[in-house]
Amino acid sequence: MLSARIAVLVSSGGTNLQALLDAQAEGRLQSGSIVLVLSSRGDARALDRARAHGVRAEAVERRAFPDAASFEQRLLELLGEERIDVVVLAGFLQILSGAFVACYAGRIVNIHPSLIPSFCGRGLYGLKVHKAALDAGVRITGATVHLVDATPDGGPILMQKAVEVLPDDTPETLQRRVMEQAEWRLLPEAVERLCRDLGAPPQTPPREQAPLEPLISFPGGGVAPPWEGSMG
Ligand code: GRF
Repeated sequence: MLSARIAVLVSSGGTNLQALLDAQAEGRLQSGSIVLVLSSRGDARALDRARAHGVRAEAVERRAFPDAASFEQRLLELLGEERIDVVVLAGFLQILSGAFVACYAGRIVNIHPSLIPSFCGRGLYGLKVHKAALDAGVRITGATVHLVDATPDGGPILMQKAVEVLPDDTPETLQRRVMEQAEWRLLPEAVERLCRDLGAPPQTPPREQAPLEPLISFPGGGVAPPWEGSMG
């Protein structure tokens, strides 16, 4: 696979989709190309963002189908039409079945706005995630990109980025900071790495021989927690 064909599945504003489109325009996403955007809502702003970049964008609304199986069948048809290699869930609010996920095993990723396994799973999406983090009183939250399996927000973690919680945060201010400092940076990088790895020729040395790159970063940059080494 020379350049992976990417589909992005969305349901709302599409700021993460925008981060991917910008990364592609700037050459930070170069091992894959976004060729299809599917939205589970016809009024999602994400559809306009895709079309503004000349990307095919279609609404596939769950309520237009009698059951989840026929809804997923339509998604699979469109993905097949565009010969999609990699599926990115970026704020896609429908839970996908194990049968659907199996069609793209190891090639479907999701972004979640917390440090999984905290504040994730069924019912925790959007502002509810950030409210749960504030209610728990955590000082650090963040975002996670993971491979998707049949469990909501399950599957192997690919990348995480931590973000500081400030004393007077509301769910809205925290959501915005997590997007700006973590999600919009993490997702393009994770998708680029996945596409690159999928397209790597078979003679690529095994991972353990390759130089280790940091996958987890902390507020203020760096690969060590800011408090490390500063304790008297
Ligand atoms: C993001 O917080 C993402 O992590 C979550 O849903 C939100 C979608 O936002 N899964 P947007 O549509 O990308 O602006």
